[in-house]
Amino acid sequence: MHILVTGGTGFIGGALLPALASRGERVTVLTRQRRPMGQGQGQVAYVNALDDITDPVDAVINLAGASLAARRWTAAYKREIRSSRVDFTQQLVAWMASRQMPPKVLISGSAIGFYGASGDARFTESSGGASDFAATLCRDWEQAALAAQSDSTRVVLLRLGVVLDAGGGALTEMMRSFRFGVGSWLGSGSQWLSWIHRGDVVAAILAVLDNHVTGPFNLVAPTPVSHRAFCDALARRRRVLFKAGVPGVVMRTLLGEMAESLLLTGQWVVPERLHHELGFEFTFPSIDEALADILS
Ligand SMILES: NC(=O)c1ccc[n+]([C@@H]2O[C@H](COP(=O)([O-])OP(=O)(O)OC[C@H]3O[C@@H](n4cnc5c(N)ncnc54)[C@H](OP(=O)(O)O)[C@@H]3O)[C@@H](O)[C@H]2O)c1
Repeated sequence: MHILVTGGTGFIGGALLPALASRGERVTVLTRQRRPMGQGQGQVAYVNALDDITDPVDAVINLAGASLAARRWTAAYKREIRSSRVDFTQQLVAWMASRQMPPKVLISGSAIGFYGASGDARFTESSGGASDFAATLCRDWEQAALAAQSDSTRVVLLRLGVVLDAGGGALTEMMRSFRFGVGSWLGSGSQWLSWIHRGDVVAAILAVLDNHVTGPFNLVAPTPVSHRAFCDALARRRRVLFKAGVPGVVMRTLLGEMAESLLLTGQWVVPERLHHELGFEFTFPSIDEALADILS
């Protein structure tokens, strides 16, 4: 199979590309980088423009997008976050439609931010979306991808939780204070963290690639934890002198709207379709198993 991956140079791509290559897939990565790391190694080819792809593409995995956590959400940065997902996905879908042989599947990124925050709700794929910035971003990003749905092309949406692994992503940020012996959580610590090990993200992407499914899939482990319980799980694996919460007011002052949307409020999301329609078995169903693997 010839698979086009956008955003393949990122954190998830770092685990996905080797998994695709080891199955013998031919992979092309669309990147803005002139000399991406890994170029010239193995079966992965890199292109800077869609028009550089001449051979038929069987599947597209769309992971590109400016980081939501990298910077304060100024008006300009919000535009970049949206345009790198919504506008970019519209261009990708137009390119797919223009192909003589359109790809058979588009697997496109989204996030559990679609559902908004709640302390007690349980969100499945049939729950409705919220209306804050992150939720409308996810909704519009998904709508842009769904425009590719046709008799010949199916569309799958990956509603990703917080992806955990070594070497990047959220865990690197969450562990910063642990380096100094301080276990910390943010705000009250009672907010839910719907997380997933990066290895299970890759396995779930392969599962939706191989099975004839369409629509949204929650990519989260079956056992969300509170931020405080997450801190305790980390503290069992790292020497911690004391534990403390970082007050929400400090986070809001430092990071503004992004703190409220991504860090101080949480949600309990259920991987219902992975379980019931695909019989998906998580390699890392609990936070202790995930952290044991990542921090070993
Ligand atoms: N990791 C998580 O916990 C998580 C959770 C929920 C949703 N997601 C979503 O899943 C997708 C992949 O996640 P990831 O963690 O692998 O992301 P990542 O490490 O931030 O990588 C995303 C890739 O997108 C491209 N990109 C970055 N800024 C861009 C911009 N301004 N315009 C166009 N392209 C840009 C980059 O590729 P090039 O430099 O090669 O162009 C980058 O490697 C993202 O869209 C993210 O929002 C991730």
